[in-house]
Amino acid sequence: MKAIHVSGPGKDYRLVLAGEPQPMPQAGEVLIRNAAAGLNNADLLQARGAYPPPPGASQILGLEVSGVIAALGEDVNGFAVGDPVCALLSGGGYAQFAIADAGSVLPVPQGVDLVDAAGLPEAGFTAWTNIIDTAHLAPGETLLVHGGTSGIGSLAIQIFAARGHRVFTTVGSEEKREAARTFGAARSINYRSEDFVAVVKAETGGKGVDVILDMVGGDYIQRNIEAAAIWGRIVNIAYQQGFKAEVNFAPVLTKRLTLGATTLRSRTPAEKQAIRDALLKEVWPLVGTQIRPVVAQTFPLAEAQKAHEFMAKTGHIGKILLSSA
Ligand SMILES: NC(=O)c1ccc[n+]([C@@H]2O[C@H](COP(=O)([O-])OP(=O)(O)OC[C@H]3O[C@@H](n4cnc5c(N)ncnc54)[C@H](OP(=O)(O)O)[C@@H]3O)[C@@H](O)[C@H]2O)c1
Repeated sequence: MKAIHVSGPGKDYRLVLAGEPQPMPQAGEVLIRNAAAGLNNADLLQARGAYPPPPGASQILGLEVSGVIAALGEDVNGFAVGDPVCALLSGGGYAQFAIADAGSVLPVPQGVDLVDAAGLPEAGFTAWTNIIDTAHLAPGETLLVHGGTSGIGSLAIQIFAARGHRVFTTVGSEEKREAARTFGAARSINYRSEDFVAVVKAETGGKGVDVILDMVGGDYIQRNIEAAAIWGRIVNIAYQQGFKAEVNFAPVLTKRLTLGATTLRSRTPAEKQAIRDALLKEVWPLVGTQIRPVVAQTFPLAEAQKAHEFMAKTGHIGKILLSSA
């Protein structure tokens, strides 16, 4: 099969199309003939040599795909050859075929294009497990999503707006502000011209927000603490502006806040299956009608290098995909 190899991992890496043996599904796994793979920031970090794949994972980039099931390993129930699916992977997505643990596979919902479905798994799993399992967003509570037009943000806003939450979001341009509004954000904040702490305080009558999903870090660590409501929960999935900050923890104490941070890739197959099951029950019935993958651009697999350069510029709105066709 054809797959993308990283030539010269490091700052000036190049992504090249190369031949690769087609993988075989083991017990509990499925082989997917890929329609597309979704790009994630982790792919850029891995290509730069800064984020090695976990033990046992494919060395090929790519944490999510869509396609049709081409073969089943032993002990796989509930799927058949030919089923249109999308899947979270521990690696191996930038290729014509990929192996997925059956517990990380989801059907492509009706009304969703097979290629576009590659943009659902990583964002869906990440948004759900952080906002629900870690931050325990409860009915009626408010949510602030930073990076509202990122792959993660564009789906997270839709999921939790569709579930009836008042969602606030931050974005870095007026074009992104308008896009995030169409995803269902009650108030989309351009952080270049507005202070998100002041805006969410004003919008909530001084109370602040119950849950914050952050991928920025740096000085947002303190500002999130200021923007949180009493008993608020703040969960980080990245620290793009830095892991280090000088923080005044007094409001954490007085407002009884909880600070958390998680990663998805290194979790066990059983943990991922539990998230998959929750998504299937709680989110998938809304996908295709109220919730849609937002696709910024789809590149051919052979143009993975161009796709990475496009992502690195951070102007995109939604997911960037690599089509295997
Ligand atoms: N922990 C986990 O399990 C997990 C899983 C998946 C993804 N992630 C992380 O989550 C983040 C989003 O992933 P993604 O694939 O959705 O990425 P993405 O589509 O590339 O979006 C990243 C967004 O972050 C915003 N941003 C970038 N640098 C920023 C900065 N210095 N300050 C403020 N905002 C900044 C940009 O939006 P603006 O132009 O609006 O600033 C950009 O759209 C990435 O950092 C990724 O590594 C973590």
